[in-house]
Amino acid sequence: MTVALIILAAGKGTRMQSDLPKVLHKIAGAPLLVHAMKAGASLEPEKTVIVAGHGAELVEASARDWSNDVDVVLQTEQLGTAHAVLQAGDALSGFDGNAIVLYGDTPFIQPETLDAMLAARAEHDVVVLGFDAADPGRYGRLVMDGEALDAIVEFKDATDAERAITLCNSGVICAKSDVLFDLIDGVSNENASGEYYLTDIISIARTKGLSATVVRCDEAETMGINSRPELAVAEVAFQTRARADALENGVTMHAPDTVYFSHDTYIGADTVIEPNVVFAAGVTVENNATIRAFSHLEGCHVSRESVVGPYARLRPGAELSEGVKIGNFVEVKNATIDAGAKINHLSYIGDAQIGEKSNIGAGTITCNYDGVFKHRTTIGKNVFVGSNTMLVAPVTLGDDSMTATGTIITKDVPDGDLAVGRARQENKTGFARKLFEKLKFKKAKASKES
Ligand code: UD1
Ligand code: CA
Repeated sequence: MTVALIILAAGKGTRMQSDLPKVLHKIAGAPLLVHAMKAGASLEPEKTVIVAGHGAELVEASARDWSNDVDVVLQTEQLGTAHAVLQAGDALSGFDGNAIVLYGDTPFIQPETLDAMLAARAEHDVVVLGFDAADPGRYGRLVMDGEALDAIVEFKDATDAERAITLCNSGVICAKSDVLFDLIDGVSNENASGEYYLTDIISIARTKGLSATVVRCDEAETMGINSRPELAVAEVAFQTRARADALENGVTMHAPDTVYFSHDTYIGADTVIEPNVVFAAGVTVENNATIRAFSHLEGCHVSRESVVGPYARLRPGAELSEGVKIGNFVEVKNATIDAGAKINHLSYIGDAQIGEKSNIGAGTITCNYDGVFKHRTTIGKNVFVGSNTMLVAPVTLGDDSMTATGTIITKDVPDGDLAVGRARQENKTGFARKLFEKLKFKKAKASKES
């Protein structure tokens, strides 16, 4: 049966103390909302409906940034979770599959858990994701009758006996879409909060003779983010799992606790990551590469056998072929570096193409920006760029060409040529010694007078 996701993301998140809507705060470089969307996307949903309210425009832009295949609907007033789901009704009218309600502030739900819910849905009309809470706090309580779920009681409305229950509601609910909206029609706001509770659909379903059950998951999966401390805890949880996964997949890390991953980092087997490396969004590293200490990578691709760092920075669009070497204090942006090329020390390479086996000397800079436009530098194969060469783009160095140390390149260099562009040196005989004597005399005189 086809699946639709309804992701609730209208809340402000007052406890975040932020101008940004809560679901746009990030873990591992991606908004909470995107984490929820990614979890749901594993089900290959036919439709994804995001219910936005606070900061709806920003929420919509962020969602579409990750996937344009979404409907964003507005909940102008936050009257409760049932009311929020109701806003998705028009977007799902005529949809004949299962609907799954997720929260935009709950980033760790696992695809297997959602699969288990769908499997249970085949046997029951309504399926709720529950967990055994170490501290049940103010969560809604799941009132069971054997394996059947009888009702969900919100903390505020619960009796002491119900509050003693430790099986809690995660908020994730699954039912056939038409059944879900039918049940929501029966929800009122006569309760301690004056809200339309989505959780009321369970007792309504039971009175209609429908069946409800619970799928259980680990409490860590249902962690919702409401404050900055919780966001920080969630970040740690994400990193802990990402490090464990990388190690499990054959990546060597000497100090895994000092390596930071993004939600989409991919590292191949037999790659070595030294301490204090940060992977920002959009990085793939193939097998057998080495990322040395204190490097920062973002939006880039590192092919196998390449070595990056220590202290290197790869920015978006850095594309390294096999066996490339990027050394200390080198920054590469929007540049393709072909196989076996080396940029070993203190360089900026931006908006460039560097051919196979070329060697870029220390201190080389691609002067790519004229204050208004960016320009490209193209370097052929087997080129030797002397130290401290300034490449004033747009400019091309032909295959097998060479630049002399300290050259400022402003014109193209044909294949096989040597370009020298610097002031010619002149030696003045004995001049240094004379100058030193003069200066020392001046200093001695000045100290006598004072
Ligand atoms: C809800 C559940 C509770 C469950 C808990 C798990 C209800 C009535 N209660 O309680 O049983 O244990 O989640 O965390 O469903 N939202 C909207 N529009 C609204 C109201 C909420 O979009 O009108 C969104 C919020 O932004 C949030 C989510 O829905 O992402 C949950 O809402 P929240 O008010 O936090 O529900 P809880 O009181 O925590
Ligand atoms: Ca909540």
